Amino acid sequence: MDATALESEAQTAIAAARDAGCLEELRVRYLGRKSPLKLALREVRDRETGMALNAARAAIEDAFSKREAALAASAPEHLEPFDVTLPGERVERGRLHLITQIRREIEDVFLGLGYAVFDGPEVDTVFNNFTALNTPEAHPSRDPQDTFYVDGETVLRPHTSPGQIRTMLAQEPPVYVVSLGRVYRRDTPTPRHTPTFHQVECLAVDKGISLADLRGTVEHFFRALFGQEREIRMRTSYFPFTEPSVEFDVTCFLCGGEGCNVCKRSGWIEMGGAGVVDPAVFEAVGYDPEEWSGFAFGLGIERIAMLRHGFPDLRLLWENDLRFARQF
Ligand code: DAH
Repeated sequence: MDATALESEAQTAIAAARDAGCLEELRVRYLGRKSPLKLALREVRDRETGMALNAARAAIEDAFSKREAALAASAPEHLEPFDVTLPGERVERGRLHLITQIRREIEDVFLGLGYAVFDGPEVDTVFNNFTALNTPEAHPSRDPQDTFYVDGETVLRPHTSPGQIRTMLAQEPPVYVVSLGRVYRRDTPTPRHTPTFHQVECLAVDKGISLADLRGTVEHFFRALFGQEREIRMRTSYFPFTEPSVEFDVTCFLCGGEGCNVCKRSGWIEMGGAGVVDPAVFEAVGYDPEEWSGFAFGLGIERIAMLRHGFPDLRLLWENDLRFARQF
């Protein structure tokens, strides 16, 4: 084999290579395992031939690295040619989960009223969830059949009301705060219940707060969420942490109060619980009930989503079926 001829042929080809692809082909041709040079090297029996072939191999390798460096330096020619008129690859855009959308919408309504948003922990004390909220020892909500206990003093919060306690323990009145987030109850999943769900809690503490302030705030809230034509009504109820306590309903946004499937023909939809903060709650957090008064309310966010969009089963929100999630 003529080492010099081979070397100069390779040198010429390498110098003419236009891109990395061509260079790779040439590398296989001149230096690959089955290239004439490699085969010849394997057959070498004398020193002279060996030295000549090795010198040719070194020169060719050197030519490859130089050409490689030159191609890399001469950007953009080293790029693979491509057709700039081809359509691009579509980037999928995500979106917020319906519950997150509504959650943010609610936060915006209250931020607009001058409220602060408080984010409480989902694992919280029995004291914050029950005791400070004036819940009697024998109240059914304390039962481990209803609430998930982490240990004797700690639960997965069954409502967002401990946000009231945490806020009041951390600051002096006046207080205007909403707390939104996940809550947990030992319920079997059904179309209307899931063991994990979301609530929004509202607390206002100031001088001379009354049930009328509660009514006005709830009305503003529901009109912002369901339309300006909504009316609300309050019915007497009982919660350990409010006195008096009420439950509030909103006129059905589907039929406008005439009666339909969504409102079970009553024209009204039950939305949540509320009331004037019980003096015992103020005492538990060190506020003077003679000086301060307040209102609080709480309700479920899934329920708002379900009613507003008319889907029949809460569990859909947890299944992560994109055909469902993409509708909102
Ligand atoms: N925490 C109650 C529940 O989960 C809802 C509630 C009722 C919250 C009355 C309040 C309230 O702030 O005043 O059922």
